[in-house]
Amino acid sequence: MQRDLASMAAEEPTTRRVLVAEHPRLLKLKEMFNSKFGSTPKFYVRAPGRVNIIGEHIDYCGYSVLPMAVEQDMLIAVEPVKTHTLQLANTNPLYPDFSTSANNIHIDKTKPVWHNYFLCGFKGIQVELAEICAKSERYIGTEGGGMDQSISFLAEEGTAKLIEFSPLRATDVKLPSGAVFVIANSCVEMNKAATSHFNLRVMECRLAAKVLAKHKGLQWDKVLRLEEVQTQLGISLEEMLLVTEDVLHAEPYSREEICKCLGISVEELRTQILSPNTQDELTFKLYQRAKHVYSEAARVLQFKQVCEEAPANAVQLLGELMNQSHRSCRDMYECSCPELDQLVDICRKFGARGSRLTGAGWGGCTVSIVPTDMLPSFLTNVHEAYYRRNSSSLALEKHSLFATKPGGGALVFLEA
Ligand code: GLA
Repeated sequence: MQRDLASMAAEEPTTRRVLVAEHPRLLKLKEMFNSKFGSTPKFYVRAPGRVNIIGEHIDYCGYSVLPMAVEQDMLIAVEPVKTHTLQLANTNPLYPDFSTSANNIHIDKTKPVWHNYFLCGFKGIQVELAEICAKSERYIGTEGGGMDQSISFLAEEGTAKLIEFSPLRATDVKLPSGAVFVIANSCVEMNKAATSHFNLRVMECRLAAKVLAKHKGLQWDKVLRLEEVQTQLGISLEEMLLVTEDVLHAEPYSREEICKCLGISVEELRTQILSPNTQDELTFKLYQRAKHVYSEAARVLQFKQVCEEAPANAVQLLGELMNQSHRSCRDMYECSCPELDQLVDICRKFGARGSRLTGAGWGGCTVSIVPTDMLPSFLTNVHEAYYRRNSSSLALEKHSLFATKPGGGALVFLEA
């Protein structure tokens, strides 16, 4: 079943009536709101977390990804006011209150403060929500794809989704029975808005796309994504991998070499192609990044096919694809870290059929596919082997290691 955003918005009620008193988290939020602002929220908004099952760092290259929304979520209580002052508060006392004039939103990208993400959303709201949210995130300075925002709006309980871009659309991918997905947080934090790791990868993919396009006689200056090169050449992902091996070299490219390949000046490269926070980079790995993207895009399609065909050894096959994905993220895309690699090894050792980093990487979480009957021993053993070892991870363990199911999408709650 394939549904686009417009039909979803037309058919699905994304507004629900709830009795706040019956939901402890909403009730706590309501009480805190009341004590802070002296009034009652007019509505509440829920947005789920997501886990990407497979397809890492390829959405901004134009390729399909395979995430699901999880049951865990974030709640916001809202009251529209007549003044033009935006007042924000967080239930977590670590994050200070903030207020600003709604007419003059200024996002200070040099400071990774919590309310910046809210301001980005506020600044970005215009037409269609998922695409707007993906665009809004770029105000923070990162050049991400649309995976997180798309799954947040297009998720349906009980199913993961294949998310395709340009135009944005979602197709159900039924996960196999007999296995669960377990999220484990490495407890390493990497703020992708405060460092250039993420954008450097996006730029390396952009440069690889341009160099491949130029070599193949395409209109390279218009090309931004690796997917465009494949589509314009009209060849398969496997053939694109051969082209990559043929055209690009494994040694890092200096910016002078890239300029020579494209026939442009260093100044043009810096100001017309690179993002503000990568303009001073001197070397770029094009071969490794393109190899990851084309192979990962192929794994996403294989993963979907295994889910559809559901052979007896589906869990084994899906696990192997997830393991290959992690290896490619670690070795070719270099977006893992020692703790993630260690956690993935521990998860596999204690029964995961596949385990990989999920999301941007360099920290954050892993996702593992675990046969349902092994879940209790898996959780106990991973707890012992990863979290007990380190007291700071141990403190976070309650929210760091859990099994989850495909959850529903973003909703507005009105008090009944
Ligand atoms: C971040 C971005 C996504 C995606 C992932 C990597 O989560 O926001 O768009 O690129 O990294 O797959």
